[in-house]
Amino acid sequence: MRLLVSGGAGFMGSHFIKYILAKYPDYTVVNFDKLTYAGNLENLREVENNPHYKFVQGDICDREALEKVISENKIEAIVNYAAETHVDRSIMDPDAFLRTEIFGSFNLLEATKKFNLTKMVQVSTDEVYGSIEDGSFSEESSFSPNSPYAAAKAGADHLCRAYFVTYKTPVVVTHSCNFYGTNQFPEKLIPYFITNLIEGKKVPLYGDGKAVREWIHTSDHCRAIDVLLHKAAPGEVYNIGTGKELENIEITKMILSEMGLGEDMIEPVKDRPGHDRRYSIDCSKLSRDFGWKPEKDFATGLKETIEWYKANADWWQPLKSGEHLDYFRKQYTDKA
Ligand code: DAU
Repeated sequence: MRLLVSGGAGFMGSHFIKYILAKYPDYTVVNFDKLTYAGNLENLREVENNPHYKFVQGDICDREALEKVISENKIEAIVNYAAETHVDRSIMDPDAFLRTEIFGSFNLLEATKKFNLTKMVQVSTDEVYGSIEDGSFSEESSFSPNSPYAAAKAGADHLCRAYFVTYKTPVVVTHSCNFYGTNQFPEKLIPYFITNLIEGKKVPLYGDGKAVREWIHTSDHCRAIDVLLHKAAPGEVYNIGTGKELENIEITKMILSEMGLGEDMIEPVKDRPGHDRRYSIDCSKLSRDFGWKPEKDFATGLKETIEWYKANADWWQPLKSGEHLDYFRKQYTDKA
């Protein structure tokens, strides 16, 4: 297969590219990535000389460049990881979110249709469903996005649905829970807290720390996308989760204990505006249809992730200094 991975230099896209090249040595993977602040070719060092791998810098919002890369490389299918992903940034500055998520996905759908590609997998989020007090969202649940990020993702997902219904464009949409693992840009809860603690800084826990998220390790998510790319029927939607729900305070305590630090390192700060209290998705459809199951135990995955950040300060330290993080972190300087 000749595969285009858009957003392949980011955290999840780069894990997926390495996974695919290792599992299918005869596949060709073209990584089409704009290299925003979150894109990092360091993530792909181990495959950069692989003759089946190619990097092309470009933006999915640039239709001409996108179509050129698809036609020149005889692309057969697309997996779209390209997105602005950080909720706090979307609260400060939604513009790029709307452009990349909505217009970028629109261009990918148009290209999938125009070049008769066999499949487009749109990697989306459980945040489109909004917050849920009890129970879990299924693939049939309606959307109720609460942040500009979630609304932009929901817009793109609606477009995917419309393209399948209207044109039979072979697109599959996923709604995934929170990712964690190595090489995650140090702005999200887990890598931000780990790297702060390595630097001897406190960790800013929003509000009462009792918001609940469901967590999946990169390796389990890659296996799920692999299955959906090869086996899911066009037009289908799949939730990808683990059932591993944790309050932020629980994760914080796990990280502190693993790093031998005390709860005095927690700095309660004011809450995120519109903060979703709980995400929870039912992913039984994925297990039922394809026998997929999460394999990585959270405590083990978290321990490995902490070890990786301890051993790879060269990777994250340059990303943590400077304006990358400072501009949106300003929202959270007030104490709770
Ligand atoms: O649910 C899937 C989504 O998970 C993805 O679609 C998003 O792209 C991804 O960013 C993530 O969104 P969250 O807002 O849940 O992730 P984040 O790591 O930013 O925050 C996780 C929880 O931790 C959330 O309740 C806010 C809280 N938090 C986060 C940060 C960065 C803190 O208490 N302090 C912090 O400094």
